[in-house]
Amino acid sequence: MNGIYLDHAATTPLRPSALEAYTRAALETGNAASTHRAGQAARELLEEGRARAAAALGVRPLELLFNSGGTEGDNHALLALARLFPGGHLVTVLTEHSAVLEPARLLESLGYPVTFLKPDAQGRVHPDALAAALRDDTFLVSVAHANNEIGTVQDIAALAEVAHARGARFHTDAVQSPGVLEVAPTRWNVDLASFSAHKWGGPKGVGLLYVRRGLDLPPLLLGGGQERGLRGGTHNVAGAYAAAISLEEALREQPAEHERLRALQRRLEAGLRKVPGVSFNHPPDGNPKVVSVTLEGADGEALLMNLDLEGVYASLGSACSAGTMQPSHVLLALGMSERQARSTLRFSLGRTTTEADIDAAVAAFERVAARVVV
Ligand SMILES: Cc1ncc(COP(=O)(O)O)c(C=O)c1O
Repeated sequence: MNGIYLDHAATTPLRPSALEAYTRAALETGNAASTHRAGQAARELLEEGRARAAAALGVRPLELLFNSGGTEGDNHALLALARLFPGGHLVTVLTEHSAVLEPARLLESLGYPVTFLKPDAQGRVHPDALAAALRDDTFLVSVAHANNEIGTVQDIAALAEVAHARGARFHTDAVQSPGVLEVAPTRWNVDLASFSAHKWGGPKGVGLLYVRRGLDLPPLLLGGGQERGLRGGTHNVAGAYAAAISLEEALREQPAEHERLRALQRRLEAGLRKVPGVSFNHPPDGNPKVVSVTLEGADGEALLMNLDLEGVYASLGSACSAGTMQPSHVLLALGMSERQARSTLRFSLGRTTTEADIDAAVAAFERVAARVVV
């Protein structure tokens, strides 16, 4: 790909290790559910992948479910658990990804009471605020580990403790974390955690849902009883295997990558700050891959298009809301005006980002800013 790709929170390039693992597993003919030897060969790769992903995450293999990604994991956690608690209370946050907000709204339309917490101006949910929202009938709390638009990192262990103290279960959407932030479902003591392979350099359309042992989660997809009855559908063996192998690599590299991206993030901030009218929305201690920048008086869409013409690829808030012309629900929830939200861009850094990329992006931003400020 030509150009400077600064949209790693939307998706990040496939790792060579993922491609190699995918190719190897894709050449296995068998269906992992078949009992003959061809099926067993596929099954062995699937289970090897599950065991290696589990070891990397510090969980048990039986606690990991392979699925189609973050959207499915989030939907599964909310919608399937809700079936066990008809009419129960759900707590989530206004700044969650739409993969959590939409199922929450669906439940609300079906008569489930839902509390959408408003975070502080930096996107943080305080344990006291969560405690105040909990009720005796709260069956689930869902709070993302790292926000995809502004990078705010929540204290998941503290929030999960508060939820458990009232008898509620806890789900975290940890889609933006692996490879950059420490992920620790066991230390966090969460019941459910969603992951998506294409965010750490695995293939698109593959994910993992962590389901704590002992949690009685019904399936979301009903069918042939695959994944111990938790998810019907023929296994995507190659995708799952490639996800697992690349996850191992991403988690191994995470501590060093965190430091490297933090330095690049600071460099990008320092460069952009020189442009008059620039301010930042990401907290300084958030996910180092995210830079959310507001250019006062600018039309964000024009900014994005002009950067694209300069060969710099960024995003308007989340990729999923890009193109809808709606100001980002995350920025509005932080208290920004519609006008400010529409003047905001997200740059997101990743494994392939270099200092030269940052410097070129800053130079392009300076040129473009002069054209689009109205
Ligand atoms: C925080 C968060 N949750 C969920 C998703 C959806 O994941 P997927 O693309 O695997 O469906 C994304 C991806 O944009 C995300 O950033």
